[in-house]
Amino acid sequence: MNEPLILGIETSCDETGVGIVRGSTLLADAVASSVEEHARFGGVVPEVASRAHVEAMIPTIQRACGDAGVSLRDLDAIAVTGGPGLVGALLIGTATAKALASALEIPLYAVNHLAGHVVVDELEHGPLPQIAVGMLVSGGHSSLLLVHDDAEDVTPLGATIDDAAGEAFDKIARVLGLPFPGGPWIDKSATEGNRNAIVFPRGLTSSKDQLEHQYDFSFSGLKTAVARWITQQQAAGHVVSVPDVAASFQEAVVDVLTKKAIAACLDHGVEHLIIGGGVAANSRLRVMAQERCDAAGIQLRVPSPKLCTDNGAMIAALGSKLVRQGIAPSPLNFPTLSVLPVSTVVMHQ
Ligand code: KG4
Ligand code: ZN
Repeated sequence: MNEPLILGIETSCDETGVGIVRGSTLLADAVASSVEEHARFGGVVPEVASRAHVEAMIPTIQRACGDAGVSLRDLDAIAVTGGPGLVGALLIGTATAKALASALEIPLYAVNHLAGHVVVDELEHGPLPQIAVGMLVSGGHSSLLLVHDDAEDVTPLGATIDDAAGEAFDKIARVLGLPFPGGPWIDKSATEGNRNAIVFPRGLTSSKDQLEHQYDFSFSGLKTAVARWITQQQAAGHVVSVPDVAASFQEAVVDVLTKKAIAACLDHGVEHLIIGGGVAANSRLRVMAQERCDAAGIQLRVPSPKLCTDNGAMIAALGSKLVRQGIAPSPLNFPTLSVLPVSTVVMHQ
């Protein structure tokens, strides 16, 4: 039998993503981003994102079909991000997916965006290991998860108790006068800086925190420490080196992320770490994670940067996995949930 042909739709934030996969082969990954429309506001404006999705949705579907050389009638199923995300933005994708699935009379899977960020790795690095630790680091989430090869089985180990990792990058970029979204700019600036110039705090790493928040993250104290350091330097008449601050801040974030991820693997006897989400595109995170995984005997899997940030291919990849596992699709009256627990991989009601 031919592998199933799946179209995935992602509209949880500011990217209109449409991906097409056959089995676990990526055929198309079309993304239209409204990021430039949000830049002057210093963050994503939900209303602006929704309007952009309405404009980009159909052209992006057409582009993906053209790139893949398939027609909508060839599809076996559709997958769409059902949550979490901005509710108005999610509605554009879910309404489109429901209309398409009912017109084409094919199954529809409303899936969890966060699981998509992990499962997308199958498109590049083959089937998921039987069990892995997944570290999801994006603009809205920072979580450590136990992920099984059965994509429906995801157990949360820990998460941020305040800002997400990407949010911290975006906020510090703003303080440093770098554009939005700040992650890629801090990453770039840091290459010219000294990562040991300033020692910023590593949140939730004290021995007391290890008891209560072993696998949790906190970035708000770091954010305050960076802002205070800059103010003090300026008050003392010193010139602040943006690359040094960027590199030192990035080092603090990446140090904590990799340490906790590897501890989670070792503590659970897990030999594979998968990192996903926009912050997984960070060059220092990729290098440090590889070095520390090598030292600990852990196999690291990280998707290429384009598949780390939001895209439709990750939703198609997850949909395809569910179809191949014989999981029942979602009913067509499923709701759109801005908050969806990470353990709900596919919505069944
Ligand atoms: O996964 P994503 O595209 O969207 C969400 O689901 O949030 O992640 C976006 C986040 C933003 O905060 C952005 O600044 C961050 O990922 N990001 C990066 C890099 N590229 C994107 N952070 C650090 N370094 C990067 N190279
Ligand atoms: Zn995301």
